[in-house]
Amino acid sequence: AIYVLGDHTLDLREPDRETLVALLKDETVNEELFHVADCVKTREFGNKVFIRGIIEFSNHCRCTCAYCGINARMTRIKRYRMLPDDLVDAAVHAAQTYRTVILQSGEDRFYTADMLADIVRRIKKQANCAVTLSIGERTLEEYRMMREAGADRFLLKHETANAVLYEALHGVPLETRLDAQRRLRGLGFELGGGFMVGLPGQTDETLADDLLTLVREKVQMAGIGPFIVHPDTELAGARDGDPHKTLKVLALARLLLPACHLPSTTALNVKGGMKNALFCGADVIMQKATPFAYRELYDIYPGRDAREVPLEEQYETLRKGLAELGLSAE
Ligand code: 5AD
Repeated sequence: AIYVLGDHTLDLREPDRETLVALLKDETVNEELFHVADCVKTREFGNKVFIRGIIEFSNHCRCTCAYCGINARMTRIKRYRMLPDDLVDAAVHAAQTYRTVILQSGEDRFYTADMLADIVRRIKKQANCAVTLSIGERTLEEYRMMREAGADRFLLKHETANAVLYEALHGVPLETRLDAQRRLRGLGFELGGGFMVGLPGQTDETLADDLLTLVREKVQMAGIGPFIVHPDTELAGARDGDPHKTLKVLALARLLLPACHLPSTTALNVKGGMKNALFCGADVIMQKATPFAYRELYDIYPGRDAREVPLEEQYETLRKGLAELGLSAE
């Protein structure tokens, strides 16, 4: 397809960086861009919105990501991890409400690949749900064990496609992350990528590269959310990412990757962007299914919802809200 938006021509056979940058900078194309993204989403998924339940099962982390509130340098925070039996129970419970359960944690080496594979196997045996893992980088062999245990999908964002910025924020090269994504794809996981919008030092050129990275790595899902300053991190003095810019990037992702699952990320929801996101290309919403006791402790950025609403009620509230918007919860 070829999209003509204002003075810009975006050719999907050969999406170019200059056009993406120009579209990001041009504020006169927004209405048109959002409308086209919504049309593509509707063509691909009708009025469906896919709802997933996410269990944040450990906030221990070996990484030192500069933006993240649970990074290894945060010595003052209270750490927790769920025991395998409790995690399996929580996932099986969540699966009564959600058809996909996402298991997310910091990079916590307490859980060996063996343990994670066993957890996945037990969940798949007891519940009829898709299992998505979001646990960071592991070796090919480790990923293989999880895949063979029945894990369906894996979320691992590239966070930023600017190699210099990536390394400054993470202390390791971007290629390390891209290699991990490629291992996952090679094993047949449905791969979720994504990045943050508004990281300090990021430009529209970076965002264009972020979008092109999603295309190049052929991700099947992509989480695109605004950076939110966590006051206890080294980025405390920075500014939050712009939710409006995030919506533009999301809409462009929908044009570039028509069939890709694009969540209204939790970070975007924190900024009040959920409703808009659903009409700018997003087709997925994630809801917390973390046991109440741990919700406040999974503090990767401020403003996250830690309310204690039973899953069924939480889902039902969302379903009704979506129905009012003409959307149907799947
Ligand atoms: N602001 C926004 N998103 C963040 N993440 C981590 N820290 C922040 C932050 N301060 C996102 C990253 C990570 C996901 C689990 O949360 O994109 O992949």
